[in-house]
Amino acid sequence: MVERRLDPRAIPRHVAVIMDGNGRWAEARGLSRIEGHRQGLDSVRAVVRAAHELGVGTLTLYAFSLENWNRPKSEVDELMRLLERYVDAELAEVHRNGIRVRTIGRLDRLPASVCEKLVQARALTCDNREMQLVFAVSYGGRAEIVDAAKRLLHDAEVGKVDPEQLDEKTFAAYLYDPEVSDPDLLIRTGGESRVSNFLLWQIAYTEFYVSAVRWPDFRKSHLVEAIVDYQGRERRYGLTGLQVRS
Ligand code: FPP
Repeated sequence: MVERRLDPRAIPRHVAVIMDGNGRWAEARGLSRIEGHRQGLDSVRAVVRAAHELGVGTLTLYAFSLENWNRPKSEVDELMRLLERYVDAELAEVHRNGIRVRTIGRLDRLPASVCEKLVQARALTCDNREMQLVFAVSYGGRAEIVDAAKRLLHDAEVGKVDPEQLDEKTFAAYLYDPEVSDPDLLIRTGGESRVSNFLLWQIAYTEFYVSAVRWPDFRKSHLVEAIVDYQGRERRYGLTGLQVRS
């Protein structure tokens, strides 16, 4: 049992996940890609529960990228339906478990019904403190930085920010949700070693873990495996090993 190797005192505070491999999972079974996304919804349920049980503080899920808008309309429509279905079916349990729902991304591009569901989920759960569940929807890392720069330039124009004083902390305050800390661990399922425009600013010192398991098969044991691997690493933040250990 991989859970025996887990150190419960060193659970990463923030785990982010690139949920990849739905299409390949389905294609390998002679099913439509949409079926892969449907099965992927079960993994979302399982991983949210697991993260909560393990004491993860924040779980960020890359549900839909800006690039995903270019997929066939039928696939985009199904992904939108699945987001709504998740909120409809799971919000009560999420709320009962004290989980706060947050979102990052260009939500204004979403169909109104999906956007409303997410806004309602955020509002209902805004006082919850047990865990945070962040959905990256209609999200792109570069777009987030551009959107931050636009708002920053506006504030500079009206004199709210002095460009001479600009530093990383000030810039980060303009990102979609500055209250969420940077991820400690980024998991990508489906075996590819790419960042795919996810949280580009926030992952500067995040530990990266690639799982060969495709998202529809990903369950608690795989999450635990990733965390055990993470716990075996030494995070040096540019320092030497000696400095970190002293
Ligand atoms: C990548 O697999 C996955 C997505 C583009 C969408 C992820 C969505 C879900 C798991 C379902 C709904 C999510 C929530 C949060 C309710 P892919 O299609 O790129 O797979 P491939 O690389 O094998 O083609």
